[in-house]
Amino acid sequence: MRKKIVAGNWKMNTTYQEGIDLALEINKLVIEKANKDVIVVVSPPFTHISEVNKVVDNDRVFVAGQNCATETSGAYTGEISAEMLWSAGADFVILGHSERRSYYGETNELLKIKVKKALEFNLTPIYCVGEVLAEREANNHFDVIKEQTEKVLFDLSKDDFEKVVIAYEPVWAIGTGKTASPEQAQEIHKFIRDLLVSKFGEAAKNTSILYGGSCKPSNAKELFANADVDGGLIGGAALNANDFLAIINAF
Ligand code: PGA
Repeated sequence: MRKKIVAGNWKMNTTYQEGIDLALEINKLVIEKANKDVIVVVSPPFTHISEVNKVVDNDRVFVAGQNCATETSGAYTGEISAEMLWSAGADFVILGHSERRSYYGETNELLKIKVKKALEFNLTPIYCVGEVLAEREANNHFDVIKEQTEKVLFDLSKDDFEKVVIAYEPVWAIGTGKTASPEQAQEIHKFIRDLLVSKFGEAAKNTSILYGGSCKPSNAKELFANADVDGGLIGGAALNANDFLAIINAF
């Protein structure tokens, strides 16, 4: 069955103590007030993951890394492996976020390796795709998303593919306050699902496809109401526990 997921991407925000406090606040609100049908994920910075995982109710709040290494282990100074994330309590890992693609040069070729590595160590990849403004204006967005999807996911076995979550994040909507309209989101989500169905068949009907990009309490409901929008990847609004809860409850 297709799962509803709301994942908070904290990015490089919160000191250690602020992060633990935020996790505690989110956990309390989720236990008391959140829609139980929704899988809630928080992705704090690496340094906070283990403790966040300890302070939350592990049946209600899941923890994600924001990136992982292409390699399993060894002499890769500064890198964090998928296995390390898993051993610290993470169940998910965000891969291919546009900030990783644009600031750190992550390519589809590299992300294909990271997705496989995450799956090898029992992490659910939240694989991000999305076009920049110039690509949308040139009407290239379908091609860009097709390439990001095919190059990274089409080599997976069907079993592995079934474990992947996808996030459509138009880059022009991330942190800008501009959101894709519900129609724009649905159009791309359906495009991604059709593409996945053409490769993986019926299994793709169960793939969760999240929307990301200035999703907030005031627009989450109309975005989540679309047939192919199965939740959200939330940046700014995930740093406020009440806003995050309101988004979780927007289904
Ligand atoms: P935003 O970020 O909600 O702040 O736009 C979303 C994301 O980058 O995942």
